[in-house]
Amino acid sequence: MNYPPIDHSKYAYTRRSDQGIPWSTDLRHIDILYRLSLALPPDSLIVEIGCWRGATATAYLEAMRYRQDLRLRLYDIKLRKQLKHLVWRSGPNVRDRVEIVDQPCWHDLSDPAALAFIDADHGWPALADLASCLAVGCRVIAAHDVHYDSPEAHGSRLLGDILRASHYRRYYEDYEVRPGEWTERGFIVSWPLADSDWVLPALPPLTPACTNVPLAGVPV
Ligand SMILES: C[S@@+](CC[C@H](N)C(=O)[O-])C[C@H]1O[C@@H](n2cnc3c(N)ncnc32)[C@H](O)[C@@H]1O
Repeated sequence: MNYPPIDHSKYAYTRRSDQGIPWSTDLRHIDILYRLSLALPPDSLIVEIGCWRGATATAYLEAMRYRQDLRLRLYDIKLRKQLKHLVWRSGPNVRDRVEIVDQPCWHDLSDPAALAFIDADHGWPALADLASCLAVGCRVIAAHDVHYDSPEAHGSRLLGDILRASHYRRYYEDYEVRPGEWTERGFIVSWPLADSDWVLPALPPLTPACTNVPLAGVPV
């Protein structure tokens, strides 16, 4: 089925600089989260760990407009007004399937999400987030800032190293330097080798040699 691209202009407020922080996840990576969400198996749960102003949450909320069977759980220890507004504005059909949790996921993540996106605290808690996702059997695990060259991102870089090194999972990532974007900070998608009943959507070209799979229509 062909779904329309996200109209990102509707969500400019989720990316607008506040508190002196101008950046958020790049639109091309938000688009990947959207395409992954649309391709999930029936009745899937999506989990996001670290939502901030809601820029990445737009991906799942948009997909949920077309997929009535998807559910979403958003974890953030400090809920921003933009995120609450975003969820409210998604309308009753969508927001009734959204749960917002204002604590770290390791306190209560018990359901295996079909898609989990990790983008919270980039220090050691990133590893606790990854451990929680792996422990409950999350299938597709995506994460941001896995190449971010900054002392505060040691946890998210290590998270990327672990997903790349796994003998039980495959991965796709992008950390290309692009003018006007922050993609060099790194975005990774990882999924279990053993899954055979779901097909990863063909994903756009990415940094050369940053995948251990052929890219189109990968059975996972
Ligand atoms: C990098 S921002 C998320 C950006 C967002 N995914 C985007 O691209 O628009 C990190 C967020 O994680 C939240 N956070 C920090 N530690 C957390 C934790 N242990 N569990 C959940 N959220 C956490 C912060 O409050 C912040 O909103």
